[in-house]
Amino acid sequence: MKGKFPVEKFEKVRTPFYYYDTDLLRQTLSAINSETGKYNDFYVHYAIKANANPKVLKIISQSGLGADCVSGGEIQRCLETGFSPKKIVYAGVGKADWEINLGLDKNIFCFNVESVAELEVINELAAKKGKVARVCFRINPDVGAHTNAKITTGLAENKFGIAMRDMEPAIAEAARMENIKFIGLHFHIGSQILDMGDFSALCNRINNILDELDKKHIKVENINVGGGLGIDYQHPNRMPIPDFEAYFSTYARHLKLRPGQKLHFELGRSVVGQMGSLITRCLYVKQGTAKQFAIVDAGMSDLIRPALYQAYHKIENITSDEPLSTYDVVGPICESSDVFAKAIDINKTHRGDLLAIRSAGAYGEIMASQYNCRKLPEGYITEDLVENE
Ligand code: LLP
Repeated sequence: MKGKFPVEKFEKVRTPFYYYDTDLLRQTLSAINSETGKYNDFYVHYAIKANANPKVLKIISQSGLGADCVSGGEIQRCLETGFSPKKIVYAGVGKADWEINLGLDKNIFCFNVESVAELEVINELAAKKGKVARVCFRINPDVGAHTNAKITTGLAENKFGIAMRDMEPAIAEAARMENIKFIGLHFHIGSQILDMGDFSALCNRINNILDELDKKHIKVENINVGGGLGIDYQHPNRMPIPDFEAYFSTYARHLKLRPGQKLHFELGRSVVGQMGSLITRCLYVKQGTAKQFAIVDAGMSDLIRPALYQAYHKIENITSDEPLSTYDVVGPICESSDVFAKAIDINKTHRGDLLAIRSAGAYGEIMASQYNCRKLPEGYITEDLVENE
């Protein structure tokens, strides 16, 4: 075994595949639970969109976390993997009728509603079933986050949420609807955020909103601050468990919760990011004029983040101890953006070596496609490979 990987077991399965280190996942979950346990009324809903592998979801649901869903498919998947409907929150700017009906039938905790048009449809569909839908309004707080422009969501020009000036009319509208119960406010400012100042800026904005609503005697039972806590892509081994102490204490210190108010979080990447690696085999080493390429059997269809966001993922050769050499690591797909890394130093690589593309547990397998008629990558958890030794 080199490093933390059961390399000899990897030889038995077809590459490329995702490997999920369930020891790290369990440690990460217990770190979350022990931090939130310090505060009354902090509830974490795992953002299913980050990784919906059923084996991973079962471990997460067993730890007691709730689920944050953005589609009917995600609601179905998380019900199949043991999440309680009472802990499901459901967001998304474009909920189809069947998806709303599913949420109503399963009595999910709440719909995070993103427009008054959507509110009207939920009210109608709930009326047909003789039910009352619990809703939170997703408010666009116009708070920027220091992250990739493609994954910031809380600015005014984003498609997400209801603008602050439209919030009170929406709450009033909800109060008039018979089949709607307004239970709170939802926010989310972006993803891969490492600066706690961004989260405290969100707290300040929410404090102002709550002061205004207090003046009008509008009661807000639940605050949902979304997700967004980032991970260290440069050094996946340095602090594999994100600093949940700093994250939750930022909210505890800055957000002025009213008595009885519950605080909800929707963490995705920070829960599953570091436990996953994409394991790929080197097919060829090709000597270019100015550089050498390690051509691997994984491509942007398996992990799209480098091509889509120019995201950095650390790459290691897990079967070679030879001196370092410099490579562009590229996939087999017919697109020049099918590049995992440029000019990186890894142990000298030969055909047949296994490479680990690290920090790929979040937004990896779930964003895979079949482009070029490729097979979707498998996802294996530790137990799949090292059980019955
Ligand atoms: N809540 C809402 C409303 C969200 O939109 C998201 C992520 C989350 C929670 C979870 O955020 P997290 O804790 O994972 O940062 N595909 C991109 C990331 C897109 C994030 C979308 N929303 C990537 O690969 O970086």
